[in-house]
Amino acid sequence: MAAAVFGRKAAVLGSLRSFPAQRLWFHSATVLPQQSGSSPQSGFFPPVEDAMLPTGSFNNRVAFITGGGTGLGRAMTTTLSQLGAQCVIASRKLDVLQQAAKEISNQTGNKVHAVQCDVRDAQAVSRCVDEMETLTGLPDVIINNAAGNFVCPSERLSPNGWKSITDIVLNGTAFITLELGKRLIKKQRGASFLAITTIYAESGSGFVVPSASAKAGVEALYKSLAAEWGRYGHRFNIIQPGPIRTKGAFSRLDPTGAFEKAMIDRIPTGRLGKPEEIANLAAYMSSDYATWMSGAVIRLDGGEYVSMAGEFNELRRVTADQWKIMEVMIKSTKGS
Ligand SMILES: NC(=O)c1ccc[n+]([C@@H]2O[C@H](COP(=O)([O-])OP(=O)(O)OC[C@H]3O[C@@H](n4cnc5c(N)ncnc54)[C@H](OP(=O)(O)O)[C@@H]3O)[C@@H](O)[C@H]2O)c1
Repeated sequence: MAAAVFGRKAAVLGSLRSFPAQRLWFHSATVLPQQSGSSPQSGFFPPVEDAMLPTGSFNNRVAFITGGGTGLGRAMTTTLSQLGAQCVIASRKLDVLQQAAKEISNQTGNKVHAVQCDVRDAQAVSRCVDEMETLTGLPDVIINNAAGNFVCPSERLSPNGWKSITDIVLNGTAFITLELGKRLIKKQRGASFLAITTIYAESGSGFVVPSASAKAGVEALYKSLAAEWGRYGHRFNIIQPGPIRTKGAFSRLDPTGAFEKAMIDRIPTGRLGKPEEIANLAAYMSSDYATWMSGAVIRLDGGEYVSMAGEFNELRRVTADQWKIMEVMIKSTKGS
């Protein structure tokens, strides 16, 4: 008996050691439509990229989006513009902003303004808000989306590298929020503030330490102001996106493309997110449908965070045959 159990144990250990990368139990689902750059199970979770809210949800509203000329910022601008908002997008590269503003405006029929602004510079932020006041008046919706990031072992990190990321992410968000907040308070105007952070703002993450620290600071800033400035009609909320392929993010976070497959492999919905999925959530959180939402932190990541967090989640790689053997082993264990 003991020899038989030992023999089975050896067989199990041998087969577990060679965990197949593919998931045998999932082969029946390969008939589902598969997204490119995704695993078969993504067929269960196709993205819907159309604007979710009713047309006109942002009529007569002004939305200000930092980093609105590229990536997720551009997607959020496009959705808000489609829904009727007049948008102001701001970042450093005026040519990129102007091109994006023209293209979005042509697509939606609503005005999009481009304003140059380096959010690290409090005086530049103040000038940018002056320009916006002239163009559109103060905004009803503010989205702090601009950021910088790169992967780097912390022992190779220079003070400049640290400063450059924390200046954009934490100080930039604070400068924009305080400048607009104070002006809105003076005019007794309410507004919705939204910050785009990241799933590792809560857990921290090695190799992106300035970003993790600064994003955690942004979350503390927004939760604090949600408590303090409700009396002025201001709401503060946060979206933590999981991985979404944008040039800005992926060129500095996965320069060789080597991590993308590993990311997809651990995401329970089997695919990266789409910018439009973040845009729909951002539009909802900034809209009148969400006036009771303040101080909220919403993770939109296809389940990546919980998948990385659960200690036993790697057992998803165990095949049905391996489970049968493991069950026998577990049942044959007597005492502790
Ligand atoms: N894509 C993802 O997988 C992912 C995941 C989690 C979180 N996020 C977050 O999502 C947001 C958007 O990222 P993305 O992926 O769309 O990347 P992106 O296209 O590189 O967006 C970053 C934007 O920030 C602007 N920016 C950078 N430095 C600035 C400064 N000093 N002043 C003003 N604007 C500045 C950039 O415009 P200029 O170069 O013209 O200044 C750019 O438009 C970021 O907050 C990022 O942390 C993204």
